[in-house]
Amino acid sequence: METGRLPAEGVRTMFDRIAPVYDAMNRVMTVGLDRRWRAATAAAVVRPGDRVLDSCCGTGDLALACARAGGRVTGLDFSEQMLERARRKSSEIEWVQGDALALPFEDGSFEAATVGFGVRNLADLELGLRELRRVLGEGGRLGVLEITRPRGLLAPFYRVWFDAIVPLLGKVLPGGAAYSYLPASVRRFPGPEDLAQVMRDAGFEDVRYRLFAGGIVALHTGVAA
Ligand SMILES: C[S@@+](CC[C@H](N)C(=O)[O-])C[C@H]1O[C@@H](n2cnc3c(N)ncnc32)[C@H](O)[C@@H]1O
Repeated sequence: METGRLPAEGVRTMFDRIAPVYDAMNRVMTVGLDRRWRAATAAAVVRPGDRVLDSCCGTGDLALACARAGGRVTGLDFSEQMLERARRKSSEIEWVQGDALALPFEDGSFEAATVGFGVRNLADLELGLRELRRVLGEGGRLGVLEITRPRGLLAPFYRVWFDAIVPLLGKVLPGGAAYSYLPASVRRFPGPEDLAQVMRDAGFEDVRYRLFAGGIVALHTGVAA
């Protein structure tokens, strides 16, 4: 499978194919910890009553976490198959099919925004972050939850997990073959320091990050400047 950055159409087709196994793969790959990371992301940026955009919402679990934190949530994704599963989980949340690189919302439409395991897949990371900045009003809060590559002791275990076991799991699950794309997409993604800088360049200030699971996952937060 492709090892470089996939064009947007390739990414959309890939997620349409992954959709039936996506939630199960998430639980297995993260041994269920993803729920906790999503709750932490929502808690970091959502205040009760906020209008919240969850961009690249996929099957909707982070959008649901934002709704539980008190947000009035819109979930956006360009994969109809992923959205189809999200719609089954909540009728309170507004589910929108659209492109994260050309958000169909006016400037300043939201007080908070989140992206869970989504920015890594964007064909243009900088443009995706600038779009999020645009639809947030000044002072709006952004939370980006994403896989990252750990340094130090965990690094060799991580390599075995991501470069061998995850693609293997993908082969045995129906429709999961597209998971062989995952290690490549993580490998070319900026580390936590570099992602923080890309967020600053896109118009966010007070950018910070915290690491989960020994540095395998990072939560970046920033405030629209
Ligand atoms: C790995 S999934 C993450 C789903 C969900 N946020 C979660 O936390 O499980 C990445 C999602 O990003 C979506 N995506 C990637 N590029 C996109 C774009 N340009 N516009 C809209 N959605 C996009 C894919 O369709 C996919 O559903």
